[in-house]
Amino acid sequence: MATKAEFLDAIRSTTNHDEFKELHWTGSFGEYLDLVIGNPDVVRTAHQRVYDMIMSFGTEQITIGKRAVTKYNFFSDPLGDGEDAIFGLETMLSQFVDCFKAAAYGYGVEKRVLLLHGPVGSSKSTIVRLIKRGLEHYSRQPEGALYAFGWKVEEDGKEVFVPDPMHDEPLRLLPPEARARILDSLNSDRGDRYRLRVEGEASPVSRYYMKQLLAEYDGELDKVLEHIVVRRLVLSERDRVGIGTFQPKDEKNQDSTELTGDINYRKLAEYGSESDPRAFNFDGEFNIANRGVIEFIEVLKLDVAFLYDLLGASQEHNIKPKKFAQTYIDEVIIGHTNEPEYRKLMGNEMMEAFRDRTVKIDVPYNLRLENEIKIYEKDFRQDKVVKHIAPHTVEVAAMWAILTRLKESKGGQLSLLDKLKLYNGQSLERFTEENIKELREENPREGLEGISPRYIQDKISNALVRDYSSTCVNPFMVLNELEEGLKHHSLITSEELRQQYRKLLALAKEEYADILKNEVQRAIAADEEQIQRLCSNYIDNVKAYTQKEKVRNPYTGQEEEPDERLMRAIEEKIDVRDGAKDDFRREIMNYIGALAIEGKNFDYRMNPRLQRALEKKLFEDQKDSIKLTSLVSSVVDRDTQEKIDVIKSRLIKNFGYNEESATDALNYVASIFARGDVKSKD
Ligand SMILES: Nc1ncnc2c1ncn2[C@@H]1O[C@H](COP(=O)(O)OP(=O)(O)O)[C@@H](O)[C@H]1O
Ligand SMILES: [Mg+2]
Repeated sequence: MATKAEFLDAIRSTTNHDEFKELHWTGSFGEYLDLVIGNPDVVRTAHQRVYDMIMSFGTEQITIGKRAVTKYNFFSDPLGDGEDAIFGLETMLSQFVDCFKAAAYGYGVEKRVLLLHGPVGSSKSTIVRLIKRGLEHYSRQPEGALYAFGWKVEEDGKEVFVPDPMHDEPLRLLPPEARARILDSLNSDRGDRYRLRVEGEASPVSRYYMKQLLAEYDGELDKVLEHIVVRRLVLSERDRVGIGTFQPKDEKNQDSTELTGDINYRKLAEYGSESDPRAFNFDGEFNIANRGVIEFIEVLKLDVAFLYDLLGASQEHNIKPKKFAQTYIDEVIIGHTNEPEYRKLMGNEMMEAFRDRTVKIDVPYNLRLENEIKIYEKDFRQDKVVKHIAPHTVEVAAMWAILTRLKESKGGQLSLLDKLKLYNGQSLERFTEENIKELREENPREGLEGISPRYIQDKISNALVRDYSSTCVNPFMVLNELEEGLKHHSLITSEELRQQYRKLLALAKEEYADILKNEVQRAIAADEEQIQRLCSNYIDNVKAYTQKEKVRNPYTGQEEEPDERLMRAIEEKIDVRDGAKDDFRREIMNYIGALAIEGKNFDYRMNPRLQRALEKKLFEDQKDSIKLTSLVSSVVDRDTQEKIDVIKSRLIKNFGYNEESATDALNYVASIFARGDVKSKD
């Protein structure tokens, strides 16, 4: 434990005075103009700012199934705190970013509701949360800075400060001609960047003061602007500044003032008129989200009246509270909806209007295993949970999740498991990445149905807390939880589907057994010295073979023909056909030759395929001597026990098992061998 002084030190060192000063900058209107000239980007619209925020994290070009896609780093844990990251979905995300780009350029998308649509648990909320948190962060950076203003005015003989209630852009105060002149100049050398725009009118409160003061100063705007204090604006959802969220409640409790603000009755008494903007609370969600983002959770569950508010807000950038002046807003409107909800409303007349004013972006489930695994690894990393998680636990659950999302292909020459592997980037014999595109087009709904990540997360977490009086959670335990849960899964509507999912669980279990068998084999064969020996033996023979020489037998000292049987026994383990053996051998020799030129030695680990082949061969040679099957019987002789202990420690050291999960794994594989149902390919 640290001392108090150390704690205080830690506190002090995390306080940043310079940053505090920056973020609390205030100045006159004139000083603000200096800032604008120095960095015109401070006047960006909300859409432009979000677009730049995303771009500020950089991009990468990747290919998915032979198609080039831009990957936006922003969606991969942008704040580096491991909180939010989207795995996969690159195609959808690049479509999403394109919306912001088009909106930044003013191509019309800035007048639409962005609607994320997809099955439950497809990361819609996560994507919006990322945008919101990203924008909060960006607004604190120098390159993301934006400004708001307030009025220094006299009231009842006292000087008071009245902040603009919409924390609006100061330039919005200017009359159209002045604004146009400034913007023209700011836009004069932007090259192919989007043009800056400051549209709409200032808030009713600011218009009120503007009118009052103009009258007072006989129309001299300069004098009026001397009442303006500009300040740096930091967006914060918690402080309800620039980031809003709206969630539909039950219909009776919904009130549109929550969105567009309300009359302040206490102040109404003071000011006497309902239309006096000083007697209005600009605290609706649309108001507070000005300059940033508003999120509509389950947007289609909103009352129809609200939907019309929403459409006006997006189309005209105006909100219209009851009995009050309309108010301009500049904010990104993102809604999300689950797929069943959307389909239910498809035929509805209201939806017609809604669809016309939204840009719908489908957020599917992952279909790529490696990405699905990352989702769960993020939550169940070993350093986050107390229990040991046996290797492949998350992988097997993820595999099942993907299987439930895949559709059988026409013709049926591709099993679901093979399809999963193909989508995961593995080449199969008759299918390649080229086929992925066709397969995806054959089933456009693939990825919009199936089991959600949330279900998997819940079941893994169940397995972790369930007391199996065990130190670890293994794939079987998770598969059991997954199966149990199917009985009362609310989204499974038919017995048929349930049966189908059960079958897929069995499939995942089978695949797991295969993986496990492989791993135990490798552990048995993982004696480095032995592999090394086998490897040099193999290489000696391959060398002699390719150079048409003889090999010297180390025991007899005689020159012999290369040992074809040995070479083939190894090569067959990784499916090198007889016709391809020459190529395979030459390739290895070339590689070794190239290494030699650099003065390096060959190590079998440099060639994973060869390594695998050597391991398999060694395993085959040792299988009988180890008597793995005797593990399942209760009496084990000392010699066998010793060998088993060695294997176990290799499983622990090289493959990430703990004592118990290694024992489980060995027992399970032993039982497979005992049953004798080992596939011929092993
Ligand atoms: N592609 C993905 N990448 C990262 N996490 C994901 C992905 N898909 C789903 N998740 C995770 O699944 C859970 C549900 O996601 P959520 O955003 O609440 O979904 P939705 O709003 O679509 O119902 C979250 O924990 C989320 O992080
Ligand atoms: Mg959600």
